[in-house]
Amino acid sequence: MSTTIHLQGKNHTYKFSHPQDRIGEGNLAFVYRGTRDDQKVVAVKVLKKAYSLNPMITKIYEKAVDINLDSDHLTKVYDYVVTGSSTSPKHHLIIEFVQGMSFDQVLDKNLSIKDVLKYTRQLLQGLSELHSLGYLHRDIKPSNFMLGQGDFLKITDYDTIIRQDDAVAKAPYMGTYNYSSPEQIQQEKLDPRTDIWSAGIFLYRALIGKTPFEDIENKKERKEKIVNGDILIPTEIDLILEGILRKAITPDKSMRYSSAMEMRMALENYEGIKSKWWFKFYNRYFLPGSLNAYAKVILITITILLFLTFLILLHNG
Ligand SMILES: Nc1ncnc2c1ncn2[C@@H]1O[C@H](COP(=O)(O)OP(=O)(O)O)[C@@H](O)[C@H]1O
Ligand SMILES: [Mg+2]
Repeated sequence: MSTTIHLQGKNHTYKFSHPQDRIGEGNLAFVYRGTRDDQKVVAVKVLKKAYSLNPMITKIYEKAVDINLDSDHLTKVYDYVVTGSSTSPKHHLIIEFVQGMSFDQVLDKNLSIKDVLKYTRQLLQGLSELHSLGYLHRDIKPSNFMLGQGDFLKITDYDTIIRQDDAVAKAPYMGTYNYSSPEQIQQEKLDPRTDIWSAGIFLYRALIGKTPFEDIENKKERKEKIVNGDILIPTEIDLILEGILRKAITPDKSMRYSSAMEMRMALENYEGIKSKWWFKFYNRYFLPGSLNAYAKVILITITILLFLTFLILLHNG
């Protein structure tokens, strides 16, 4: 049996059917595909009952609609509607519908490095715009973005955003452990650099296939590794990209990229270098793990012989 739910918003009405229009579920909410009175397709996010009386979360829903999200990489929030009674309210957030798939699924497809860099740059662009509006995201991870039309990464989930001025120390932890910065899990005062750490973990996950700390089952041990920034970067990652990852995922905030734009620029520069023939040559033949040891010895011997021949020719005029 399905029920059609009608919502009266500020300037529009919306409807969706339960359960057949349900398109997703996260930790805090169910997501439905709905329609607005002018036939525009929208996404309707319905906060789960367990959180509907939690002021910390309901306040985020209430305020999200006032943020002027105007970016190719941030889904717009159109409306906020509460139904039900004060003891049993239902909170709905009406957001831009993204036709596409969650980045969790996108990453399962083994993206090319070119695509990984492109989407990370788009994520950083979205983050930079959110930061310049005065907000922190606090839960940057693939299941909170979608790949939409135009090959655009879109941040779709705002359940954890906070005004930077309100991100004081000892605030309750919100986020996802494997993606959270040391300052976030230690409930310190946060600034945009917390999202940069998470964007670094996203890049790591996209390049390497898993997040750096997910294999550590013991929570205390995992926390220690995060706080110490104890990350292992496989040798197939070249030195420049390793440098970028380490600068994003470093526990010392003062050593981290200071803004999303700075990290974005670093990736752009890297893409420039990556297209140079000499860098491709280095990556193909000299990067640890790129060739077997036998082939490497032959290659190095040939290089030395060529160099010696060059010296002899030079010497003989
Ligand atoms: N704007 C949207 N357009 C289309 N689908 C969406 C949209 N937002 C969320 N979804 C779908 O719903 C799923 C859960 O959404 P999410 O916002 O992450 O929920 P939660 O806040 O509970 O984590 C997403 O993975 C995605 O499949
Ligand atoms: Mg989510």
